[in-house]
Amino acid sequence: MTVMNAGRGAVLVTGGAGYIGSHVVRQLGEAGEDVVVLDNLSTGFRSAVTAGTLVIGDTGDRGVVSRLLAEHRVDTILHFAAHTIVPESVTNPLKYYANNTCATRNLIECAAEAGVRHFIFSSTAAVYGIPPGGFAAEDSPTIPINPYGTSKLMSEWMLRDASAAHGFGFVVLRYFNVAGADPGGRIGQSTRQATLLTKVACEAAVGKRPHVAIFGTDYATPDGTGIRDYIHVEDLATAHLDALRYLRAGGESTVLNCGYGHGYSVREVIDAVDRVNGAPLVRRDEPRRAGDPPVLVARADRVRHVLGWQPQHDDLGFIVETALRWERRLQRQPID
Ligand code: UD1
Repeated sequence: MTVMNAGRGAVLVTGGAGYIGSHVVRQLGEAGEDVVVLDNLSTGFRSAVTAGTLVIGDTGDRGVVSRLLAEHRVDTILHFAAHTIVPESVTNPLKYYANNTCATRNLIECAAEAGVRHFIFSSTAAVYGIPPGGFAAEDSPTIPINPYGTSKLMSEWMLRDASAAHGFGFVVLRYFNVAGADPGGRIGQSTRQATLLTKVACEAAVGKRPHVAIFGTDYATPDGTGIRDYIHVEDLATAHLDALRYLRAGGESTVLNCGYGHGYSVREVIDAVDRVNGAPLVRRDEPRRAGDPPVLVARADRVRHVLGWQPQHDDLGFIVETALRWERRLQRQPID
């Protein structure tokens, strides 16, 4: 175990009780970091926080945030807290701009006032919209096609401008399709009313859903279904610790894609769930879902070069295995 923070302040993790944040908190704890989690538990779970101190509150609440930054001598913020459901962002955009954009603005302001040195921000491949050819590099045009992507892109811009004005460093990580669960089986995605493909397919595998829908079978892809770059949550979490190390070593502010650089179709993902589960899921072909790009895959070289990131779980079978193991555990032992 490497102790990364000798002599430094604490790390504030907003949204640390959520799916991705909780995996990062676990790794930060294992690395010996002093961790403070701020989460309002609107979609997160108390039991998902396996390291550090949990404070229940809103990221947009300047009083709470300023107090935490001062009390814990926070030197780095990792900002996960956000709404993340794309279709909901289309029907209720102001909810997304309030939580993802306005709250982030308040957090950045508190960070600047408190002299926080480093900021790591959870962004999304949704900032690219529909990139030509389906591959997105960090310098591809950012033309989001839904308010979720726009809300995150606006936060990226605020960070860039505030960093230039106030002198803190940042790393923006643009996540592609995050999937899987802690290989140790301690935490996973517990989201209610889940919409993500791997989660939904695993719920069908344990009998929580009667079938899995395939949204669109007429795309110009080899098997007609959408292609995405699925990244294991444990590898994604590691990228955050790499980003922290990078910033502390004086690395320049930067924007990095987080994906493996290759994709799988919806049918390939469901095939993998069938194999791991040992029984075929009931599949139902449905029309395309509004706003879905046909193919979205990362150009993923920069994160390896800049951060030295070395993914360990680039394996669809393993992604599904860990997701399904967590789903079975949730089935036996629901959490609240
Ligand atoms: C996810 C992320 C988004 C990110 C994007 C990058 C969330 C909520 N969304 O969205 O932020 O920008 O990855 O690619 O975190 N599908 C089905 N049946 C289902 C569910 C999905 O066929 O029941 C299909 C979709 O049409 C799509 C693929 O599976 O082709 C992946 O969908 P999903 O898991 O919902 O993720 P994204 O929409 O790609």
